[in-house]
Amino acid sequence: MAGLRCSSRTWTTYLCLVALLCLFWSPAVAVKEHDFKKCDQSGFCKRNRAYADNAATQGTTWTSPYKVLSEQVSFKDGSLNAIVLKTINAEGATVELPLTVSFLKSGTARVTVDEKIRQQKNIELRHGSQVRKERYNEAEGWAIVGGLDVDTEATVASQGDAGIKITYGPEAAYEADITYSPFSVAFKRDGVTQIKLNDRGLMNMEHWRPKLEKDAKPEGEESTEETVAETPAAEDESTWWDETFGGNTDSKPRGPESVALDITFHGYEHVYGIPEHAGPLSLRETRGGEGNYEDPYRLYNADVFEYILDSPMTLYGAIPFMQAQRKDSTVGVFWLNAAETWVDITKAKEAKNPLALGIGSKTNTQTHWISENGLMDIFVFLGPTPRDVIKSYTELTGTTALPQEFAIGYHQCRWNYVSDDDVKEVDRKFDKFNIPYDVIWLDIEYTDDKKYFTWQSDMFKDPISMGQQLDAHGRKLVTIIDPHIKNVGGYRVDEELTSKGLAVKNKEGGNFDGWCWPGSSHWIDAFNPAAIKWWTSLFKYDSFKGTMKNTFIWNDMNEPSVFNGPEVTMPKDNIHHGGWEHRDVHNLNGMTFHNATYEALLSREKGELRRPFVLTRSFYSGSQRLGAMWTGDNQASWEHLGAAVPMILAQGISGFPFAGADVGGFFGNPELDLQSRWFQAGAFYPFFRGHAHIDARRREPYLLAEPHRSIITSALRLRYALLPAWYTAFFHANQDGSPIIRPMYWTHPSDEAGFDVDDQFFVGSTGLLVKPVVEKDKTTTDIYIPDDEHYFDYFTYEKLATHKGKHLTVNAPLETIPVLMRGGHIFPRRDIPRRSSQLMRFDDYTLVVVLGKDGKAQGELYVDDGDSFDYRSGQYVHKAFKLEGSTFTSSNVGGRDFASVKKGTWLKQFANVAVDKIIFVGAPSSWSSKKEVELESEGKKTSVSLDFHKAEGGRAAFAVLGRVGAKISADWSVNLS
Ligand code: GLC
Repeated sequence: MAGLRCSSRTWTTYLCLVALLCLFWSPAVAVKEHDFKKCDQSGFCKRNRAYADNAATQGTTWTSPYKVLSEQVSFKDGSLNAIVLKTINAEGATVELPLTVSFLKSGTARVTVDEKIRQQKNIELRHGSQVRKERYNEAEGWAIVGGLDVDTEATVASQGDAGIKITYGPEAAYEADITYSPFSVAFKRDGVTQIKLNDRGLMNMEHWRPKLEKDAKPEGEESTEETVAETPAAEDESTWWDETFGGNTDSKPRGPESVALDITFHGYEHVYGIPEHAGPLSLRETRGGEGNYEDPYRLYNADVFEYILDSPMTLYGAIPFMQAQRKDSTVGVFWLNAAETWVDITKAKEAKNPLALGIGSKTNTQTHWISENGLMDIFVFLGPTPRDVIKSYTELTGTTALPQEFAIGYHQCRWNYVSDDDVKEVDRKFDKFNIPYDVIWLDIEYTDDKKYFTWQSDMFKDPISMGQQLDAHGRKLVTIIDPHIKNVGGYRVDEELTSKGLAVKNKEGGNFDGWCWPGSSHWIDAFNPAAIKWWTSLFKYDSFKGTMKNTFIWNDMNEPSVFNGPEVTMPKDNIHHGGWEHRDVHNLNGMTFHNATYEALLSREKGELRRPFVLTRSFYSGSQRLGAMWTGDNQASWEHLGAAVPMILAQGISGFPFAGADVGGFFGNPELDLQSRWFQAGAFYPFFRGHAHIDARRREPYLLAEPHRSIITSALRLRYALLPAWYTAFFHANQDGSPIIRPMYWTHPSDEAGFDVDDQFFVGSTGLLVKPVVEKDKTTTDIYIPDDEHYFDYFTYEKLATHKGKHLTVNAPLETIPVLMRGGHIFPRRDIPRRSSQLMRFDDYTLVVVLGKDGKAQGELYVDDGDSFDYRSGQYVHKAFKLEGSTFTSSNVGGRDFASVKKGTWLKQFANVAVDKIIFVGAPSSWSSKKEVELESEGKKTSVSLDFHKAEGGRAAFAVLGRVGAKISADWSVNLS
């Protein structure tokens, strides 16, 4: 959303005028916090918090009313099946909750609890509703793409009346300890409990119950006294049957159905993840107290424009995956649930030895997960490293799509470039000032009256010639396509959407109508396979006329944003494909729309198969497979600049690392220093896009006065020079889910002092340590050093006086980005500045070798055509570089037999790309007398000149080898002895 939304309709124009006038009276526009629920305004959250409070008050006398029927437990082929009985009243009446615990080959365990009566569809819905009776069980179908193979080696270690123990995982080092009464599961690694479910007895599955009518009085007038009593007795039933917020009443055809569980991380002081929130990477406690939040972290995708910082408030996307960290151990849980979810976090000290209180005490992080409905479905990861945890999580939900190479260049966006001439002019200006960029973006105003797939024909008379001008320098166009379709006669897209029955329905079964940018709108129901198929047809080149092969797509407002809906989204009782309520699927909605567009771009023309690029605002676990995300409508303020890095880091460790924030800030006009600093930071965001609100002044980099224009140009050129390193980092993210920018805990899980550092990061495995300056008038910054390796300044090669745990103060005047190089790494670069990444595709490489303490270094380069899927059939080059002793080698990763790869067009073109030079930073003084060294490549020996620079002042010695000339795809070595 964007503050003011003015449509062409007369009355909204009038309202907009009034709103504009109001702006004069208010110094700043900020998020309307009261538009969004707090826990105590959300019935099920409030009830479950009360449940937790009641348990806490009762202390040791509290017993969870859930127990496993021991006589019905069966274990076979890596899966345990049982019934959990929930006692629902003082008379001992129970309901049956089928339980499955499965042990997966990856070492992940999965615990699923359902409700029998609902599996059997044996319930009655209220208000004559026709929605599904089961608990929502299709989240798996959207989020999970693999990793579900069961580990048939998992075995029962012991079994008795009180419980069962299963050993599983690598070398059978894991154990699931299931206690029957009350039900709990402790997950152990090497005999030590790491994670315990229902540890505090807060499990709560609100079972289905009929609403009992007193004397058959009409609904609404009856007292709730005769409803089946819950345990505990004094439950708040006021929001069981309907709930009103902000003037919207949610009819609840199934009554109360929340699902909650407490999960304790034993001995873990830090937890990370569950994006998207604007707050620190290491999550805060949420039950009040100094420095803590009062409210749980909320996951309910919403259009929260100009969001407040340092808050557990919900934002645009949801990834219910959390990791816990202690020294040398990382574990995690994934709460697979698509409904509105809240997570409370508290930390508790536990004495290891009760007689020695305080000494040897450990901290447990206690979490309480509360979802409005659906299955209880939890995946448990026992690590022990951050890399292991993300690998297992992305085995399930998929890894980052290998992007279009241009997508990791710079993107120039604003709301709006107003005409095709405007776009052409911006493009020319970038060239005039020698500033590189790859993509220019068109926001909603390019359309004819917000009708997607059309052009505003007065202003965009010739979109093809615009596309062609961009293409001449390898540049691309991104156009926005939102999920709301203007409800107006004569608009083909709306007519097809409604006549084919592909729109989201309201609770009465008619097409849901709400307000968004175009005014009255319908929404595509992208849960429906037929809707995806139809959506795909709209993107064909002969259907979306004016677009070309270099046009890609931006999906916005897909939470979905509904301006006149409850909490700016859809009513929860809307109905989706398959008869599910919007309530069941809300957090998946954005991903399904993103998925439909991804599918549409996969093949816009028969026979064409190229990697899509689709940016999304809303997301869920799995969205990483489909494209990039950005952090929505931030502000042009120093605080928002500072908030972006922890948010992007949180995305990275949560499996969705292709993330960025609007550079410059969306709302407002950044002062020049702020804009410069933001570009310096943005040059290190995995997704790097400048964007601005329609009311913001033009701020394209070339418009800025010096020195700002040069500062920004340098930041952009740095990004472009390092593109080979970025692409290699994306490749790794694609392989194993590893983050592209990495926080200290992730790279140094043994170093406790780094666990809450979230304002600096390493770029992939390059050893580049970056600390963006995010404060006004700052000319120095402190960088936390996580180990005892050598560190050098990226630009000056100064050898820094560092040691593990040091906060190193470095100079950072406005023109400088604090970037250090860690010893032991080699990274690839391309040093000739060009207009776009495509024009650099066949440029030679520079390799930067940063010698470690032991004189060694290693690194990698992955490269492919950056556009097609041909890499899947071997059309790529992947080299490992190594400096060991006095030999530098370049060889194929994994001993790949590259010679036998049948070379396609791109590999043939790439064959002549060579290494131009190698820079050795921290070169040993024994090289000082050398002028030439021997290169052996493709069976030939040649000599290459070496230019040694001895250490001077603080600067380390370095040597430049070149021109090397060895083909980058060949195996070669240099003898430096
Ligand atoms: C939303 C988006 C913003 C975009 C605007 C108009 O506010 O978050 O990026 O410019 O809509 O489409």
